[in-house]
Amino acid sequence: MNLDDVPDDLSAVLFTEEQITTRIRELAARIDQDYADRNPLMVGILNGAVMIMADLSRALSIHCEMDWMAISSYGSGVSSSGVVRILKDMNTSVVGRHVLIVEDIVDTGLTLAYLIENLKSRNPASIEVCAGFRKPEAQRNEVEVKYLGFDIPSDFVVGYGLDYAGRYRNLRGLGILSPSVYS
Ligand code: PRP
Repeated sequence: MNLDDVPDDLSAVLFTEEQITTRIRELAARIDQDYADRNPLMVGILNGAVMIMADLSRALSIHCEMDWMAISSYGSGVSSSGVVRILKDMNTSVVGRHVLIVEDIVDTGLTLAYLIENLKSRNPASIEVCAGFRKPEAQRNEVEVKYLGFDIPSDFVVGYGLDYAGRYRNLRGLGILSPSVYS
């Protein structure tokens, strides 16, 4: 789905597919250098990270492995509380591995803070984070995102893996959802 397929649903376009692709390639080049000969284990957090995982992993020129976790956060329904339940754990052991958590967005940072602590307790060789987007609220939880696509405003955004009521994940690009869609 292209941005101009749903022009009335977006109050603004933040990034086009081309802008995201360019940024992902830049991140991949850094990861290529940082992880040369380290065979990183990329851990995508379902569902939103599917798009960035697919693009980032294919932009790498080094070998990597991929695994997935699905989590559910108990919250008010609008924002996460940091209390996280693992719905699907990884299939791969992280012991001694160089783990790269791949997220679509860091909002409050509470999910990532939990995940990092959880994975650290499993004795990996290292843990870093790659995220497509980060909202300002994330600063409150001081989660370090080593490989960040873009800082974005606090608005409700959709596209590139991010949904509203299950839709818009397949939107190429990132846009601010028009309030008329959800009000
Ligand atoms: C989103 C996103 C992160 C989390 C970030 O997942 O993919 O996992 O929220 O929020 P936080 O920084 O405030 O903790 P969501 O629960 O919406 O699930 P989804 O990926 O399946 O859409």
